[in-house]
Amino acid sequence: MAWYEEAIIYQIYPKSFNDSNGDGIGDLEGIRQKIPYLQALGINTVWLNPVFVSPQVDNGYDVANYYAIDPTMGTMADMERLIAALHEAGIRVLLDFVLNHTSDQHPWFQDALRSRDSLYRDYYIFAGENGRAPNNWASFFGGSAWTAAPDASGQSYLHLFDAKMPDLNWRNPNLRYAMGDVAAFWLDKGIDGLRLDAFIHIAKADLAQDFPSTQAPVLAEPFIANLPAVKQWLRPLVSRIKSDYPETFLLGEAASADVPQAAAYTARDAGLLDSVISFRMFADDQKGDDLRLPALYQPKPLAPLAFKQAQVQWQQGLGDALPVLYWNNHDMARVATRYGHHDPTASKSLAMLMYLQRGTPLLYYGEELGLENLALPATAYQTDPSVALFIEQAQAVGYSAQQALAMVNQTHHLAARGPMPWTAGVNNGFSPQTPWLSDGQQAQVTVSQEEDANDSVLAFYRRLLQLKQTALFTRGKEQLLATLPSVYAYRRQLAGQAAVVAVNLAATPATLAVTSTHTGLAVGAVSREAHQLTLGAYAGAVVTEEGKK
Ligand code: GLC
Ligand code: CA
Repeated sequence: MAWYEEAIIYQIYPKSFNDSNGDGIGDLEGIRQKIPYLQALGINTVWLNPVFVSPQVDNGYDVANYYAIDPTMGTMADMERLIAALHEAGIRVLLDFVLNHTSDQHPWFQDALRSRDSLYRDYYIFAGENGRAPNNWASFFGGSAWTAAPDASGQSYLHLFDAKMPDLNWRNPNLRYAMGDVAAFWLDKGIDGLRLDAFIHIAKADLAQDFPSTQAPVLAEPFIANLPAVKQWLRPLVSRIKSDYPETFLLGEAASADVPQAAAYTARDAGLLDSVISFRMFADDQKGDDLRLPALYQPKPLAPLAFKQAQVQWQQGLGDALPVLYWNNHDMARVATRYGHHDPTASKSLAMLMYLQRGTPLLYYGEELGLENLALPATAYQTDPSVALFIEQAQAVGYSAQQALAMVNQTHHLAARGPMPWTAGVNNGFSPQTPWLSDGQQAQVTVSQEEDANDSVLAFYRRLLQLKQTALFTRGKEQLLATLPSVYAYRRQLAGQAAVVAVNLAATPATLAVTSTHTGLAVGAVSREAHQLTLGAYAGAVVTEEGKK
């Protein structure tokens, strides 16, 4: 069994974890200082969001030098020390591998702009003439995916994300090899795996082809995601990595991949990835949406039945690969806020439901405290024009600016990237300096307070991750049980052991039949009469069935 089949991953947004030098920005040395905390939590792998030299247009996803650490994060020596210290503590390290695009400040792009004859011109995607875009494709960050090159060529360059993040041209074999060199450099430093950022976008359809639409520009997803050449170009890269560093864990970010696509990326004989993170794991209940407003920033509760359907498809459809089990990441609102629970009982039982399933837990820093989104001022969203637009639209139909902003704060990913609250001290113990992102408030939850309380969300996560590490919950088979739509229940089974995990996703009590009377870990109001288990609001329980086949 490969080590990563037992991985419990903790995602650290380095800018927001711990600031060691008092500049208001989290850094590598800050992470190193918190290794004892990570050990006590019971995780065995960390994934760091990008830490490379970057103008920080997209918080490090715009890389200007893959081979050096951004000075705000520390130095290469800090990185080497961090890797060594994590390994010493028994924790593996995954780094973000941003391979679809670079920063416009990357020397390759700067050279490409120098002349149409630059060796690096073909590392990027230049097309069109007389300043006109070659097609109607939109960027994920809004507006056209094309920007006129700041040179005399009349061409434009493609950027599926920010205009300061030009897409790399994976058709070019030299570029493909150069990206392999980047991976090799870091694997050589001893890291254990890579998270392949936005890899599903490296292949694009014919650039001369518009995507039929009444809107312009249009998000041309079928032309820019999951095209066959993605696999073709990835395969030699993966084979180079796996032959030189056979233990490497390759975790792909496949945001829009459905189950069959994810299965194809992770099939054991495909020579591609070990696991993928898809965003199609959740289901929101849209019934309460105000139809006069765009859905985007309207908070929505979880839709329990549709959510169960989605989860069971991921469980059943992946074949050999393990599903990645997660509730949130830096691209979505925090789970404690998103569904409007704001409640430690729900935080615990949602964690129980998710992470005891078959698959690889992926925790987002702070969720183990029940941490919520920040309540940011409107000015914090200046870089995202969709926010001001939403607030304007909401006001036009009668919401106050404050109400509209509150909706944004409950749903936006930026508000999920706040500093980790360590103590009740200045800036919640994150830094003596005002943090780079802050709502200026005293945090509702902190590490030090939760470490002292036996019934805290943190204490629960520690117990839960202990349980996750047992063979039954790592390797056992999983079967979803037929119950009320609002109850999420499944059985794990391995050799002579079995257990049922049952969580009530509603505020009204629910009852289900169980074959054993032995309750293990429990959350909220759980009562049992003979073989009837009653779960109060958002309550959950693990019912072990010792000695059963
Ligand atoms: C991924 C990252 C996201 C980033 C984008 C561009 O989706 O998770 O944060 O903006 O790629 O690199
Ligand atoms: Ca710092």
